[in-house]
Amino acid sequence: MLKLLRERSFPIRELVPFASARSVGRELEDGLTVQGLSDESIEGFDLALFSAGGSTSGEWAPRFADAGAVVIDNSSRWRMNDDVPLVVSEVNPGALDGHHGIIANPNCSTMQMVVVLKPLHDEAQIERLVVSTYQAVSGTGKRAVDELLDQTHALLHERDIEQPDAYAHQIAFNALPHAGSFAPGDDHTDEERKLMNETRKILGDPAIRISATCVRVPVINGHSEAVNVQTREPLSPERARELLERAPGVTVRDDPGAALYPLAIDASGEDEVFVGRIRRDPGHERSLDLWIVADNLRKGAATNAVQLAELLHERGLLRPDGRRARSGLTAVASKPA
Ligand SMILES: NC(=O)c1ccc[n+]([C@@H]2O[C@H](COP(=O)([O-])OP(=O)(O)OC[C@H]3O[C@@H](n4cnc5c(N)ncnc54)[C@H](OP(=O)(O)O)[C@@H]3O)[C@@H](O)[C@H]2O)c1
Repeated sequence: MLKLLRERSFPIRELVPFASARSVGRELEDGLTVQGLSDESIEGFDLALFSAGGSTSGEWAPRFADAGAVVIDNSSRWRMNDDVPLVVSEVNPGALDGHHGIIANPNCSTMQMVVVLKPLHDEAQIERLVVSTYQAVSGTGKRAVDELLDQTHALLHERDIEQPDAYAHQIAFNALPHAGSFAPGDDHTDEERKLMNETRKILGDPAIRISATCVRVPVINGHSEAVNVQTREPLSPERARELLERAPGVTVRDDPGAALYPLAIDASGEDEVFVGRIRRDPGHERSLDLWIVADNLRKGAATNAVQLAELLHERGLLRPDGRRARSGLTAVASKPA
């Protein structure tokens, strides 16, 4: 988030990084010093970007909002709350209007999918989706990236791997049908539930039927998704390609004969969502198949959070209650570099 705020020249007068008590006083690369959260330290901000997990958001997002800031929260804590808009900048920016101080940033696999689905839904109304994801380990965090690299190195040198820690099983040279976690009694992971529920909320259509299998694969960064889209109205692959070629935030890469289609290694580091393999599902006359890829840390998380901050700023939607004491921007709990 700090990198994106810099890259996109977000207008900041004062930026304060917050993290847990463990990190207070730590100096970041750009001369910023990590602060702790307290009633006094959170006063006077216009904007607070949160990426500190659900329980910290549950406690501190309302406190920041009460102190006059607008919170953009990356955790899943507020996403399905009726009073909290769940917003993707290219898809439902209008949902920011009338916010109550907390705005939720969607789950990464949902985010990239709805950017592509929105123009198709507007044209032909989506009836049903069947989604299989191929999710990178960076979505789990640095520990999982290290684990994939350590396991790969060990196995290539014919050594035993250590007991897996980030996942239930070895991730190197494997595919785990277990992205997220299983709540007791649920036969879907929380990641799969988020994909289903958040997609309906963002597209504003509770009737869309969705089947999802979220798979963790040994890719460092960049989520890929195979998406089968069944529409209520007819939609040809040619018309879908035309719509996607002019959709904001979308790049079409679709010449399979020339081995051109979206790849995680190409999408990593980019802010766009890439789509290709656009084709008719031979099993259904109103269904298309798509391959959607994006950088889960950028458009899937930080890029969208900063785009939402830009929209709030441009549209004068900051300071909902006008109680700002000083200008500034708070990156709450951005991981110290
Ligand atoms: N699409 C998305 O929006 C998206 C994508 C990825 C992740 N997420 C969500 O974002 C959240 C964070 O993920 P991450 O990978 O950024 O985690 P992370 O790398 O572990 O960073 C978490 C940060 O939160 C801070 N923190 C933890 N407890 C805190 C507390 N009580 N008070 C203040 N700061 C606290 C940590 O501080 P220390 O450095 O001091 O430990 C750290 O800086 C998770 O909820 C995750 O699900 C969302």
